[in-house]
Amino acid sequence: MTDPLIKEILALPGDGRELRVHGWVRTRRDLKNLSFLEVNDGSCLRSVQCVFAAPPAGGDPAWEAAPWAAALARVTTGAAVVISGRLTASGGSQTVEIAADGITVLGEAPAEASGGIPAYPLQKKRHSFEFLREIAHLRARTNTFGAVARVRNRLAFAAHEFFQKRGYQYLNTPVITASDAEGAGAMFQVTTLDSGTPGSPPDGMDYTKDFFGKKTFLTVSGQLEAETYAAALSRVYTFGPTFRAENSNTTRHLAEFWMIEPETAFMDLDGNMDLAEDFLKFLFTAALNDCAEDLAFFEAHIEKGITETLRLVAESRFTHITYTDAIKELEKAGAAFDYRPSWGCDLQSEHEKYLTEKTAGGPVIVTGYPKEIKAFYMKQNDDGKTVRAMDVLVPRLGEIIGGSEREDNLDRLTERMRETGMDTEHYSWYLDLRRYGTVPHAGFGMGFERLIQYVTGMANIRDVIPYPRAAGQADF
Ligand code: 4AD
Ligand code: MG
Repeated sequence: MTDPLIKEILALPGDGRELRVHGWVRTRRDLKNLSFLEVNDGSCLRSVQCVFAAPPAGGDPAWEAAPWAAALARVTTGAAVVISGRLTASGGSQTVEIAADGITVLGEAPAEASGGIPAYPLQKKRHSFEFLREIAHLRARTNTFGAVARVRNRLAFAAHEFFQKRGYQYLNTPVITASDAEGAGAMFQVTTLDSGTPGSPPDGMDYTKDFFGKKTFLTVSGQLEAETYAAALSRVYTFGPTFRAENSNTTRHLAEFWMIEPETAFMDLDGNMDLAEDFLKFLFTAALNDCAEDLAFFEAHIEKGITETLRLVAESRFTHITYTDAIKELEKAGAAFDYRPSWGCDLQSEHEKYLTEKTAGGPVIVTGYPKEIKAFYMKQNDDGKTVRAMDVLVPRLGEIIGGSEREDNLDRLTERMRETGMDTEHYSWYLDLRRYGTVPHAGFGMGFERLIQYVTGMANIRDVIPYPRAAGQADF
C-alpha cells in the first residue's frame, strides 16, 4: 500500500495511528530537546508538523543517543525526507501533527555551498517573482507556485467537466500546421532546413526540400480544424498549446500558451456568449469550492478581495455592450487615455480596463467590432461594416476570451479572404465546409493562463505557467 499524501494525513483524526510522511522540509526549528520540521509534499498548501522529542530519560546524552539523531542532524530547509511516527492531536493551530520516531534523509539540500554544490537557493521565506523565474525548476516548491500549479490542475479538469457534461467532444488539433488560423502572420516557422541545405538559393529557402515539402508553422489556434469537426460531431472543444510570435513584452502575453476552444454547430452569437459566460462561472465556482485553501493564500498574499470578486462574478450577469456603444462611452472619458478612442480603432488595454472597471464594474462582453480589426472568418453583419465578434473582458486583465459566429456563406467568406490577401486555394479545405452542408456555427477561445491570472490575482502571466516562453525568454 502507498503511504498517504500530506493532504490526506491532515484530514485524519489524531488517533495515534502509525504512518509515514514523504516530502521536502520547509522549515526547521530547534528547542533544547525538541525539533520541529514542517514538511510539505505539494499535495496541498499546508505542511505537516513533525516533532522529534528526546527520550524521556532526558539530558543531552540521551538526545544524542536517539536512533534518528544522526539523520536529523543532516536536515536543512529543502531536504527530502521520509518520517515515521504517530499521528496525534496538536496543541497548536494545526489539528494534527506527527510525533516522529524515525527519519530517513533521501536528499540533502545544503544551506551553504560545499563540494562544488551551491547552497540551496530557496532559503528565505519570501523571494521576488523575478528571482524565482530564474530558478523555475525549483519554484514549484514555494507556497505561491505550488498554489498556482494546483489551481491550474483543478481548472484544467473543470474545463473538461464543463464541456463533457454538455455533450462536447474533446478534439486534438495539430500543433504543426501549414495554415495561419488568425490570418495575423505572427507564426513560428517549423523547418529542418538550414542555410547549408544543398539547393537552397542564398536569398531564400527551397521549401519543397523541407521536411513537409512546404512551409510549416506552429499553430496559433486550433479553430479552423475544430470547425471541420464541429461540422461533423456538432459540438467539439480543443485544449492544447498555442504559439504566437508576437513581440509583445507585456504581463498578459506569452509566446507559448494553452487555449481552450469550443466550436458549436447550429449556434449563433447569442448562444456563444451564453456558453462563454456559463463556462467562466463554472470555472470560478470550481475554484471557490475546491481550491479554497489556495485562494485564501492568494487573498492574503497576492490580491486582496479576490475570492469575493470571484463569488460576485459567479452570481451576476455579465454586461453586454456593442463596440459602437463602447467607443461612445470611451469618447466621453476621452481625456483620460494615452490612445484616443475612435470608431475603427482596436481597444487598447487602458480602454478595456475602463470598460470593465469604470463602466460595468465587472466582466463585459463587447460585440460587433469593425471587420477590419477582426479575423477573416467572422460572420459579417448586414451593415457591411461590423462582424459578429465577441470579446469577454474582465477587470485587471482585459480580454480573457475572444470568439465569434463564423461566416457560413461561401461567397462572403471567399470575398473576405481575398480582401485580406489570403490565398483561397490554400484554404480550399476550409471553404469546403461552406460548399458542403454548411451550417451556422460559433466558437471562442479562452487563454488558459489569462484565466489562471484572473483567478489567482497573479500580476504576471509568466508566473502562472511552469516554464514561460516569451520574447527573449526560453530558459530551461
Ligand atoms: O482572441 P484570440 O486571438 O482568438 C483566437 O485565437 C480564436 N481562434 C479563438 C476562437 O474563436 N476559437 O485568442 C483567444 C484568447 C484570448 O482572448 C486570450 O485569452 C488568449 O487567447 N491569448 C493569449 N494568451 C496569452 N498570450 C498570448 N500571446 C495570447 N494571445 C491570445
Ligand atoms: Mg482576441
